[in-house]
Amino acid sequence: MSAAALVLAAGEGTRMKSSLPKVAHEILGVPLVRFVVDAARAGGCDRVVVVTGHGAETVEALLPGEATARQEEQLGTGHAVMCAESALAGASGSLVVLSGDSPLIRPETIARLIEVREAGHAAAVVLTTLLDDPAGYGRIVRDDAGTLIGIVEDKDLLPEQRPIREINTGTYCFDAEVLFEHLHRLQNDNAQGEFYLTDMVRVLRSEGLVVADVVSEEPGETLGVNSRVQLAEAACIMQRRINREHMLAGVTMTDPELVWIAPGVRLGRDIVLEPMTFLLGDTEVRDGCHIGPDSRITDSRIGEGSAIGSSVVAGADLGREVAVGPFASLFPGTVLASHTVVGACVEIRNSIVGEGSTIPSLSYIGDATLGAGVNVGAGTITCNDDGVRTHRTVIGDGAFIGSDTMLVAPVTIGAGSVTGAGSTISTDVPDDALAVERAEQRTVEGWAAWRRAARGNDET
Ligand code: UD1
Ligand code: CA
Repeated sequence: MSAAALVLAAGEGTRMKSSLPKVAHEILGVPLVRFVVDAARAGGCDRVVVVTGHGAETVEALLPGEATARQEEQLGTGHAVMCAESALAGASGSLVVLSGDSPLIRPETIARLIEVREAGHAAAVVLTTLLDDPAGYGRIVRDDAGTLIGIVEDKDLLPEQRPIREINTGTYCFDAEVLFEHLHRLQNDNAQGEFYLTDMVRVLRSEGLVVADVVSEEPGETLGVNSRVQLAEAACIMQRRINREHMLAGVTMTDPELVWIAPGVRLGRDIVLEPMTFLLGDTEVRDGCHIGPDSRITDSRIGEGSAIGSSVVAGADLGREVAVGPFASLFPGTVLASHTVVGACVEIRNSIVGEGSTIPSLSYIGDATLGAGVNVGAGTITCNDDGVRTHRTVIGDGAFIGSDTMLVAPVTIGAGSVTGAGSTISTDVPDDALAVERAEQRTVEGWAAWRRAARGNDET
Protein backbone atom coordinates (compact mmCIF):
# COMPACT_ATOMS: atom_id res chain seq x y z
CA MET A 1 0.00 0.00 0.00
CA SER A 2 1.22 3.51 -0.72
CA ALA A 3 1.88 6.03 2.03
CA ALA A 4 2.19 9.80 2.01
CA ALA A 5 3.58 12.19 4.62
CA LEU A 6 2.62 15.66 5.70
CA VAL A 7 5.27 17.66 7.57
CA LEU A 8 3.92 20.59 9.62
CA ALA A 9 6.43 23.42 9.50
CA ALA A 10 4.46 26.67 9.47
CA GLY A 11 5.00 27.66 13.11
CA GLU A 12 7.20 30.57 14.07
CA GLY A 13 9.14 29.12 16.96
CA THR A 14 9.19 32.29 19.09
CA ARG A 15 11.26 30.58 21.79
CA MET A 16 14.21 30.26 19.38
CA LYS A 17 14.58 34.10 19.59
CA SER A 18 15.67 34.10 15.97
CA SER A 19 15.09 35.88 12.69
CA LEU A 20 15.28 32.44 11.06
CA PRO A 21 12.16 30.24 11.05
CA LYS A 22 12.56 27.41 13.58
CA VAL A 23 12.70 24.52 11.13
CA ALA A 24 15.51 26.25 9.18
CA HIS A 25 17.87 25.95 12.15
CA GLU A 26 20.53 23.33 11.52
CA ILE A 27 22.05 20.26 13.11
CA LEU A 28 25.32 19.18 11.47
CA GLY A 29 24.69 21.54 8.57
CA VAL A 30 21.26 20.08 7.80
CA PRO A 31 18.05 22.09 8.45
CA LEU A 32 15.66 20.47 10.95
CA VAL A 33 12.86 20.09 8.42
CA ARG A 34 15.20 18.18 6.06
CA PHE A 35 15.73 15.45 8.68
CA VAL A 36 11.98 14.96 8.95
CA VAL A 37 11.42 14.86 5.17
CA ASP A 38 14.27 12.35 4.72
CA ALA A 39 13.00 10.16 7.57
CA ALA A 40 9.51 10.14 5.99
CA ARG A 41 10.92 8.96 2.63
CA ALA A 42 13.16 6.34 4.29
CA GLY A 43 10.16 5.17 6.35
CA GLY A 44 8.18 4.39 3.20
CA CYS A 45 6.35 7.60 2.31
CA ASP A 46 6.79 8.12 -1.42
CA ARG A 47 4.83 11.36 -1.47
CA VAL A 48 5.79 14.17 0.95
CA VAL A 49 4.13 17.56 1.39
CA VAL A 50 5.53 20.23 3.73
CA VAL A 51 3.21 22.89 5.19
CA THR A 52 5.02 26.25 5.34
CA GLY A 53 3.92 29.59 6.77
CA HIS A 54 6.30 31.59 8.93
CA GLY A 55 9.33 32.38 6.77
CA ALA A 56 7.80 30.28 4.00
CA GLU A 57 10.22 31.48 1.29
CA THR A 58 13.22 30.63 3.48
CA VAL A 59 11.89 27.18 4.35
CA GLU A 60 10.83 26.39 0.78
CA ALA A 61 14.30 27.37 -0.49
CA LEU A 62 15.72 24.66 1.80
CA LEU A 63 13.48 22.06 0.15
CA PRO A 64 14.14 22.23 -3.58
CA GLY A 65 11.90 19.87 -5.52
CA GLU A 66 9.64 19.12 -2.52
CA ALA A 67 5.88 19.70 -2.63
CA THR A 68 4.73 22.42 -0.24
CA ALA A 69 1.43 23.94 0.87
CA ARG A 70 1.06 27.40 2.43
CA GLN A 71 -0.68 28.09 5.71
CA GLU A 72 -0.93 31.88 5.63
CA GLU A 73 -2.25 32.23 9.18
CA GLN A 74 -1.22 29.77 11.87
CA LEU A 75 -4.56 28.74 13.34
CA GLY A 76 -3.37 25.43 14.77
CA THR A 77 -2.11 22.01 13.74
CA GLY A 78 -5.57 20.91 12.53
CA HIS A 79 -5.81 24.03 10.38
CA ALA A 80 -2.33 23.31 8.98
CA VAL A 81 -3.59 19.93 7.74
CA MET A 82 -6.67 21.61 6.20
CA CYS A 83 -4.32 23.88 4.22
CA ALA A 84 -2.65 20.83 2.68
CA GLU A 85 -5.86 19.21 1.48
CA SER A 86 -5.48 20.20 -2.17
CA ALA A 87 -1.72 19.49 -2.20
CA LEU A 88 -2.61 15.96 -1.07
CA ALA A 89 -5.51 15.53 -3.52
CA GLY A 90 -5.99 11.91 -4.45
CA ALA A 91 -3.98 10.57 -1.51
CA SER A 92 -5.38 7.33 -0.19
CA GLY A 93 -4.07 4.79 2.29
CA SER A 94 -1.75 5.94 5.03
CA LEU A 95 -0.96 9.60 5.64
CA VAL A 96 1.78 10.13 8.23
CA VAL A 97 1.68 13.55 9.90
CA LEU A 98 4.98 14.77 11.35
CA SER A 99 6.30 17.92 13.03
CA GLY A 100 9.04 19.77 11.18
CA ASP A 101 10.63 20.57 14.54
CA SER A 102 11.15 16.92 15.58
CA PRO A 103 14.31 15.95 13.68
CA LEU A 104 15.04 12.76 15.61
CA ILE A 105 12.08 10.76 14.36
CA ARG A 106 13.39 7.48 12.90
CA PRO A 107 12.30 5.82 9.64
CA GLU A 108 11.66 2.55 11.56
CA THR A 109 9.11 4.32 13.73
CA ILE A 110 7.33 5.84 10.73
CA ALA A 111 7.20 2.42 9.05
CA ARG A 112 5.81 0.92 12.27
CA LEU A 113 2.98 3.50 12.43
CA ILE A 114 2.00 2.63 8.85
CA GLU A 115 2.16 -1.08 9.60
CA VAL A 116 0.02 -0.81 12.74
CA ARG A 117 -2.59 1.30 10.96
CA GLU A 118 -2.88 -1.09 8.05
CA ALA A 119 -2.92 -4.23 10.18
CA GLY A 120 -5.62 -2.85 12.51
CA HIS A 121 -7.63 -1.04 9.78
CA ALA A 122 -7.37 1.98 12.03
CA ALA A 123 -8.54 5.46 11.08
CA ALA A 124 -5.58 6.85 13.03
CA VAL A 125 -2.52 5.72 14.97
CA VAL A 126 -0.95 8.09 17.50
CA LEU A 127 2.73 7.88 18.47
CA THR A 128 3.00 8.41 22.23
CA THR A 129 5.78 8.23 24.78
CA LEU A 130 6.23 8.34 28.55
CA LEU A 131 8.02 11.35 30.03
CA ASP A 132 9.16 12.06 33.56
CA ASP A 133 8.29 15.70 32.99
CA PRO A 134 5.25 15.87 30.68
CA ALA A 135 4.67 19.63 31.22
CA GLY A 136 3.82 21.47 28.03
CA TYR A 137 2.79 18.41 26.03
CA GLY A 138 -0.66 17.12 25.11
CA ARG A 139 -1.61 14.20 27.42
CA ILE A 140 -2.91 10.82 26.34
CA VAL A 141 -6.23 9.92 27.98
CA ARG A 142 -7.15 6.22 28.15
CA ASP A 143 -10.26 4.46 29.46
CA ASP A 144 -10.20 1.71 32.07
CA ALA A 145 -9.54 -0.89 29.38
CA GLY A 146 -6.46 1.10 28.31
CA THR A 147 -7.96 2.27 25.03
CA LEU A 148 -6.82 5.69 23.85
CA ILE A 149 -9.89 7.89 23.99
CA GLY A 150 -8.53 11.40 23.65
CA ILE A 151 -5.66 13.88 23.73
CA VAL A 152 -5.87 16.91 26.01
CA GLU A 153 -3.54 19.87 25.43
CA ASP A 154 -1.51 21.09 28.40
CA LYS A 155 -3.46 24.37 28.57
CA ASP A 156 -6.81 22.52 28.58
CA LEU A 157 -5.98 19.90 31.24
CA LEU A 158 -8.34 19.16 34.10
CA PRO A 159 -6.50 19.07 37.45
CA GLU A 160 -6.83 15.28 37.68
CA GLN A 161 -5.25 14.89 34.19
CA ARG A 162 -2.08 16.82 35.07
CA PRO A 163 -0.13 13.84 36.45
CA ILE A 164 -0.58 11.80 33.23
CA ARG A 165 2.92 10.99 32.05
CA GLU A 166 2.01 9.60 28.64
CA ILE A 167 2.20 12.35 26.04
CA ASN A 168 1.29 12.92 22.40
CA THR A 169 4.49 13.16 20.35
CA GLY A 170 2.73 15.00 17.52
CA THR A 171 3.37 12.15 15.08
CA TYR A 172 0.42 10.25 13.63
CA CYS A 173 -0.63 7.96 10.84
CA PHE A 174 -4.12 8.58 9.46
CA ASP A 175 -6.27 6.96 6.83
CA ALA A 176 -5.99 9.85 4.36
CA GLU A 177 -9.52 9.66 3.00
CA VAL A 178 -11.13 9.26 6.42
CA LEU A 179 -9.07 12.18 7.80
CA PHE A 180 -10.15 14.64 5.12
CA GLU A 181 -13.75 13.43 5.26
CA HIS A 182 -13.98 14.41 8.95
CA LEU A 183 -11.37 17.19 9.29
CA HIS A 184 -13.91 20.02 8.84
CA ARG A 185 -15.53 18.95 12.10
CA LEU A 186 -12.66 20.35 14.18
CA GLN A 187 -13.64 23.31 16.37
CA ASN A 188 -11.44 26.00 17.94
CA ASP A 189 -13.34 26.24 21.25
CA ASN A 190 -10.29 25.65 23.44
CA ALA A 191 -7.81 27.56 25.60
CA GLN A 192 -5.70 28.63 22.61
CA GLY A 193 -8.54 29.27 20.15
CA GLU A 194 -6.84 26.92 17.68
CA PHE A 195 -7.95 24.03 15.50
CA TYR A 196 -6.16 21.14 17.19
CA LEU A 197 -5.28 18.12 15.08
CA THR A 198 -5.31 16.19 18.35
CA ASP A 199 -9.11 16.55 18.52
CA MET A 200 -9.37 14.16 15.56
CA VAL A 201 -9.04 11.32 18.05
CA ARG A 202 -12.36 12.26 19.63
CA VAL A 203 -14.01 12.99 16.27
CA LEU A 204 -12.98 9.67 14.72
CA ARG A 205 -13.94 7.68 17.80
CA SER A 206 -17.36 9.32 17.86
CA GLU A 207 -17.88 7.82 14.37
CA GLY A 208 -17.07 4.39 15.77
CA LEU A 209 -13.72 4.31 13.96
CA VAL A 210 -10.59 2.68 15.38
CA VAL A 211 -7.83 4.87 16.85
CA ALA A 212 -4.70 2.88 17.76
CA ASP A 213 -1.40 3.89 19.29
CA VAL A 214 2.30 3.06 19.25
CA VAL A 215 4.46 3.84 22.29
CA SER A 216 7.95 5.04 21.36
CA GLU A 217 10.71 3.57 23.48
CA GLU A 218 13.65 5.29 21.81
CA PRO A 219 14.63 8.09 24.20
CA GLY A 220 14.79 11.46 22.57
CA GLU A 221 13.17 10.35 19.34
CA THR A 222 10.17 12.50 20.00
CA LEU A 223 12.04 15.56 21.26
CA GLY A 224 10.58 18.70 19.73
CA VAL A 225 12.99 21.57 19.25
CA ASN A 226 11.41 24.69 20.70
CA SER A 227 14.49 26.49 22.05
CA ARG A 228 18.22 26.59 21.39
CA VAL A 229 18.72 24.45 24.49
CA GLN A 230 16.61 21.72 22.88
CA LEU A 231 18.43 22.30 19.57
CA ALA A 232 21.72 21.45 21.29
CA GLU A 233 20.11 18.43 23.01
CA ALA A 234 18.79 17.16 19.70
CA ALA A 235 22.21 17.68 18.08
CA CYS A 236 23.90 15.59 20.78
CA ILE A 237 21.37 12.78 20.41
CA MET A 238 21.79 12.85 16.62
CA GLN A 239 25.59 12.86 17.01
CA ARG A 240 25.48 9.82 19.30
CA ARG A 241 23.10 7.97 17.02
CA ILE A 242 25.23 8.60 13.90
CA ASN A 243 28.56 7.87 15.63
CA ARG A 244 27.24 4.65 17.12
CA GLU A 245 26.25 3.37 13.66
CA HIS A 246 29.70 4.16 12.28
CA MET A 247 31.50 2.57 15.23
CA LEU A 248 29.41 -0.59 14.83
CA ALA A 249 30.39 -0.58 11.15
CA GLY A 250 34.12 -0.50 11.83
CA VAL A 251 35.17 3.08 12.57
CA THR A 252 37.32 3.87 15.62
CA MET A 253 36.69 7.15 17.47
CA THR A 254 39.08 7.98 20.25
CA ASP A 255 36.45 10.28 21.79
CA PRO A 256 33.06 10.02 20.07
CA GLU A 257 31.72 13.06 21.93
CA LEU A 258 34.23 15.15 19.99
CA VAL A 259 33.53 13.76 16.53
CA TRP A 260 30.72 15.24 14.41
CA ILE A 261 29.59 13.42 11.28
CA ALA A 262 26.73 14.69 9.14
CA PRO A 263 24.01 12.28 8.03
CA GLY A 264 24.79 10.84 4.62
CA VAL A 265 28.58 10.91 5.06
CA ARG A 266 29.98 7.58 3.80
CA LEU A 267 32.76 5.89 5.75
CA GLY A 268 34.73 2.72 4.99
CA ARG A 269 36.24 0.37 7.57
CA ASP A 270 39.27 0.59 9.82
CA ILE A 271 39.14 4.34 9.88
CA VAL A 272 40.41 6.23 12.94
CA LEU A 273 38.76 9.55 13.77
CA GLU A 274 40.59 11.68 16.33
CA PRO A 275 38.94 14.35 18.54
CA MET A 276 37.61 17.51 16.93
CA THR A 277 37.03 15.88 13.58
CA PHE A 278 34.09 17.18 11.54
CA LEU A 279 32.95 15.27 8.45
CA LEU A 280 30.25 17.30 6.75
CA GLY A 281 28.16 17.61 3.58
CA ASP A 282 28.58 15.12 0.78
CA THR A 283 31.76 13.44 1.99
CA GLU A 284 33.21 9.97 1.56
CA VAL A 285 36.19 8.59 3.49
CA ARG A 286 37.48 5.21 2.31
CA ASP A 287 39.02 2.31 4.26
CA GLY A 288 42.02 2.76 6.52
CA CYS A 289 42.13 6.55 6.74
CA HIS A 290 43.33 8.39 9.83
CA ILE A 291 41.58 11.73 10.25
CA GLY A 292 42.25 14.40 12.89
CA PRO A 293 42.73 15.72 15.40
CA ASP A 294 41.31 19.15 14.58
CA SER A 295 40.17 18.54 11.03
CA ARG A 296 37.14 19.67 9.06
CA ILE A 297 36.30 17.85 5.84
CA THR A 298 33.35 19.05 3.75
CA ASP A 299 32.03 17.78 0.39
CA SER A 300 35.18 15.75 -0.29
CA ARG A 301 36.37 12.28 -1.18
CA ILE A 302 39.34 10.78 0.67
CA GLY A 303 41.02 7.69 -0.80
CA GLU A 304 42.12 4.54 1.04
CA GLY A 305 44.80 4.81 3.68
CA SER A 306 45.11 8.58 3.65
CA ALA A 307 46.00 10.66 6.72
CA ILE A 308 44.76 14.16 7.43
CA GLY A 309 45.69 16.11 10.57
CA SER A 310 44.79 19.60 11.79
CA SER A 311 43.56 20.65 8.37
CA VAL A 312 40.60 22.02 6.43
CA VAL A 313 39.48 20.12 3.34
CA ALA A 314 36.56 21.42 1.27
CA GLY A 315 35.42 20.28 -2.14
CA ALA A 316 38.56 18.19 -2.68
CA ASP A 317 39.21 14.78 -4.18
CA LEU A 318 42.11 12.80 -2.69
CA GLY A 319 43.56 9.53 -3.95
CA ARG A 320 45.06 6.66 -1.96
CA GLU A 321 47.62 7.09 0.80
CA VAL A 322 47.74 10.85 0.63
CA ALA A 323 49.22 12.72 3.62
CA VAL A 324 47.81 16.15 4.49
CA GLY A 325 48.73 18.60 7.25
CA PRO A 326 49.21 19.90 9.77
CA PHE A 327 47.53 23.22 8.99
CA ALA A 328 46.88 22.55 5.32
CA SER A 329 43.90 24.11 3.54
CA LEU A 330 42.54 22.26 0.53
CA PHE A 331 39.82 24.29 -1.17
CA PRO A 332 37.34 23.45 -3.96
CA GLY A 333 38.77 21.98 -7.12
CA THR A 334 41.75 20.40 -5.39
CA VAL A 335 42.56 16.97 -6.82
CA LEU A 336 45.44 15.08 -5.23
CA ALA A 337 46.53 11.84 -6.90
CA SER A 338 47.70 8.88 -4.85
CA HIS A 339 50.76 9.11 -2.60
CA THR A 340 50.95 12.89 -2.67
CA VAL A 341 52.20 14.76 0.40
CA VAL A 342 50.81 18.17 1.34
CA GLY A 343 52.54 19.47 4.45
CA ALA A 344 52.41 22.27 6.96
CA CYS A 345 50.71 25.54 6.09
CA VAL A 346 50.10 24.71 2.44
CA GLU A 347 47.04 26.11 0.64
CA ILE A 348 45.79 24.53 -2.57
CA ARG A 349 42.76 25.47 -4.64
CA ASN A 350 41.50 24.54 -8.09
CA SER A 351 44.59 22.49 -8.83
CA ILE A 352 45.50 18.98 -9.88
CA VAL A 353 48.53 17.38 -8.25
CA GLY A 354 49.96 14.24 -9.86
CA GLU A 355 50.92 10.90 -8.30
CA GLY A 356 53.60 11.03 -5.63
CA SER A 357 54.23 14.78 -5.78
CA THR A 358 55.24 16.53 -2.56
CA ILE A 359 54.45 20.05 -1.38
CA PRO A 360 55.90 19.87 2.13
CA SER A 361 55.49 23.37 3.52
CA LEU A 362 54.35 26.98 3.29
CA SER A 363 53.20 27.01 -0.32
CA TYR A 364 50.23 28.42 -2.21
CA ILE A 365 49.15 26.40 -5.23
CA GLY A 366 46.21 27.89 -7.14
CA ASP A 367 44.92 27.14 -10.65
CA ALA A 368 47.82 24.78 -11.29
CA THR A 369 48.42 21.39 -12.84
CA LEU A 370 51.35 19.45 -11.41
CA GLY A 371 52.54 16.23 -12.99
CA ALA A 372 53.74 13.14 -11.15
CA GLY A 373 56.76 13.16 -8.86
CA VAL A 374 57.01 16.95 -8.66
CA ASN A 375 58.83 18.39 -5.64
CA VAL A 376 57.72 21.86 -4.58
CA GLY A 377 60.13 23.64 -2.24
CA ALA A 378 59.00 25.55 0.84
CA GLY A 379 57.55 28.98 0.26
CA THR A 380 56.67 28.44 -3.40
CA ILE A 381 53.76 30.50 -4.67
CA THR A 382 51.79 30.30 -7.88
CA CYS A 383 51.04 33.96 -8.67
CA ASN A 384 47.78 33.03 -10.37
CA ASP A 385 45.81 36.25 -10.15
CA ASP A 386 46.86 39.41 -12.00
CA GLY A 387 44.10 41.41 -10.36
CA VAL A 388 41.80 41.07 -13.37
CA ARG A 389 41.75 37.36 -14.10
CA THR A 390 43.36 34.10 -13.03
CA HIS A 391 45.91 32.12 -15.02
CA ARG A 392 47.21 28.56 -14.90
CA THR A 393 50.59 27.22 -13.90
CA VAL A 394 51.67 23.91 -15.43
CA ILE A 395 54.55 21.89 -13.95
CA GLY A 396 55.75 18.77 -15.77
CA ASP A 397 56.56 15.35 -14.29
CA GLY A 398 59.54 15.16 -12.01
CA ALA A 399 60.23 18.90 -11.90
CA PHE A 400 62.02 20.33 -8.82
CA ILE A 401 60.78 23.74 -7.80
CA GLY A 402 63.35 25.45 -5.56
CA SER A 403 62.26 27.01 -2.30
CA ASP A 404 60.61 30.41 -2.52
CA THR A 405 60.00 30.24 -6.26
CA MET A 406 57.39 32.71 -7.52
CA LEU A 407 55.64 31.16 -10.53
CA VAL A 408 54.02 34.06 -12.39
CA ALA A 409 51.13 32.51 -14.34
CA PRO A 410 50.49 31.75 -17.08
CA VAL A 411 53.70 29.79 -17.02
CA THR A 412 54.87 26.25 -17.79
CA ILE A 413 57.79 24.43 -16.19
CA GLY A 414 58.93 21.51 -18.34
CA ALA A 415 59.27 17.93 -17.11
CA GLY A 416 62.45 17.24 -15.17
CA SER A 417 63.38 20.92 -14.88
CA VAL A 418 64.77 22.72 -11.83
CA THR A 419 64.12 26.27 -10.65
CA GLY A 420 66.65 28.00 -8.42
CA ALA A 421 65.59 28.95 -4.91
CA GLY A 422 64.21 32.47 -4.70
CA SER A 423 63.57 32.78 -8.45
CA THR A 424 60.64 34.67 -9.94
CA ILE A 425 59.79 32.61 -13.01
CA SER A 426 57.64 34.42 -15.55
CA THR A 427 58.56 32.77 -18.82
CA ASP A 428 58.17 29.12 -19.81
CA VAL A 429 60.98 26.70 -18.97
CA PRO A 430 61.62 23.77 -21.36
CA ASP A 431 62.09 20.16 -20.20
CA ASP A 432 65.23 19.24 -18.24
CA ALA A 433 66.46 22.85 -17.90
CA LEU A 434 67.59 24.98 -14.96
CA ALA A 435 65.90 28.36 -14.55
CA VAL A 436 67.43 30.82 -12.08
CA GLU A 437 66.38 34.42 -11.67
CA ARG A 438 68.44 36.23 -9.03
CA ALA A 439 70.28 39.52 -8.61
CA GLU A 440 74.02 38.97 -8.25
CA GLN A 441 75.11 38.47 -4.63
CA ARG A 442 77.62 40.96 -3.13
CA THR A 443 79.71 39.93 -0.13
CA VAL A 444 81.55 42.71 1.72
CA GLU A 445 84.10 41.10 3.97
CA GLY A 446 84.44 42.52 7.48
CA TRP A 447 81.45 44.85 7.11
CA ALA A 448 79.49 43.47 10.07
CA ALA A 449 82.46 43.72 12.43
CA TRP A 450 83.06 47.30 11.24
CA ARG A 451 79.46 48.21 12.06
CA ARG A 452 79.58 46.76 15.55
CA ALA A 453 82.75 48.67 16.24
CA ALA A 454 81.22 51.87 14.91
CA ARG A 455 78.38 51.46 17.42
CA GLY A 456 80.88 51.03 20.21
CA ASN A 457 79.37 47.85 21.51
CA ASP A 458 81.57 45.22 19.93
CA GLU A 459 81.34 42.39 22.45
CA THR A 460 82.78 39.59 20.37
C1 UD1 B 1 1.65 19.73 19.59
C2 UD1 B 1 0.45 18.88 19.97
C3 UD1 B 1 0.69 18.29 21.36
C4 UD1 B 1 1.97 17.49 21.38
C5 UD1 B 1 3.14 18.33 20.88
C6 UD1 B 1 4.36 17.45 20.67
C7 UD1 B 1 -1.49 19.95 18.95
C8 UD1 B 1 -2.69 20.77 19.18
N1 UD1 B 1 -0.73 19.70 20.00
O1 UD1 B 1 1.73 20.81 20.52
O2 UD1 B 1 -0.39 17.44 21.73
O3 UD1 B 1 2.24 17.02 22.69
O4 UD1 B 1 2.84 18.92 19.59
O5 UD1 B 1 5.47 18.23 20.33
O6 UD1 B 1 -1.30 19.49 17.84
N2 UD1 B 1 2.26 24.09 13.17
C9 UD1 B 1 1.83 24.54 11.95
N3 UD1 B 1 0.78 25.40 11.91
C10 UD1 B 1 0.12 25.80 13.01
C11 UD1 B 1 0.57 25.33 14.27
C12 UD1 B 1 1.64 24.47 14.31
O7 UD1 B 1 2.39 24.20 10.91
O8 UD1 B 1 -0.84 26.56 12.88
C13 UD1 B 1 3.41 23.19 13.20
C14 UD1 B 1 4.59 23.77 13.95
O9 UD1 B 1 5.45 24.44 13.05
C15 UD1 B 1 5.24 22.53 14.54
C16 UD1 B 1 4.08 21.56 14.71
O10 UD1 B 1 3.03 22.03 13.90
O11 UD1 B 1 6.18 21.97 13.65
C17 UD1 B 1 3.61 21.48 16.18
O12 UD1 B 1 3.17 22.77 16.54
P1 UD1 B 1 3.49 23.38 17.97
O13 UD1 B 1 2.92 24.73 18.04
O14 UD1 B 1 4.92 23.19 18.30
O15 UD1 B 1 2.57 22.40 18.84
P2 UD1 B 1 2.70 22.11 20.37
O16 UD1 B 1 2.08 23.17 21.16
O17 UD1 B 1 4.11 21.72 20.66
CA1 CA C 1 6.30 21.73 19.47
